[in-house]
Amino acid sequence: MTLPSKNIEYGTKEYWDHRYSQHSDSATFDWFKSYAEVAHLIREYVPDKSSKILMLGCGNSSLSEDMWQDGYKNIVNIDYSSVVIQQMKQKYGSIRPGMEWHEMDVRALSFGNASFDVAIDKGTMDAMMASEINVWDPPTQVVEDCTREVHEVMR
Ligand SMILES: C[S@@+](CC[C@H](N)C(=O)[O-])C[C@H]1O[C@@H](n2cnc3c(N)ncnc32)[C@H](O)[C@@H]1O
Repeated sequence: MTLPSKNIEYGTKEYWDHRYSQHSDSATFDWFKSYAEVAHLIREYVPDKSSKILMLGCGNSSLSEDMWQDGYKNIVNIDYSSVVIQQMKQKYGSIRPGMEWHEMDVRALSFGNASFDVAIDKGTMDAMMASEINVWDPPTQVVEDCTREVHEVMR
């Protein structure tokens, strides 16, 4: 496990590229919860399995793969780490039709307005919010980054 020397590094692309480059291409790691733990919520709030789903900051989580196995075949995954996107493309690119992987920043999505039915963020905004400062009084940059993600997703 590649832990940062300071929490604020969780908010940098350099940290994530470095972290993923230490992992084997086939590694998976799920932050906070696995699909098994949240599947009941996803099935309740996303009953239509043909929904077009945007996975924000996918990392090397197995969430998209597990959802695909559960019938959600229309998932577009993005992450700003080129390293993890290459790894995930390598792993799933040819064997998961309907699934896409793109290097992209959640604060600047290059999709058109209203391109998705659902957006899922598991741990990505948390990473952007990591700082050394009181979480109840975040730095202006953190507020701006999170606001930009929400604004982009709501387009
Ligand atoms: C804590 S990990 C969560 C990974 C995965 N969603 C999970 O549940 O295990 C945060 C991920 O968000 C990505 N990330 C952080 N900030 C991002 C941004 N501004 N745009 C795109 N991806 C970002 C990181 O590269 C990392 O893969």
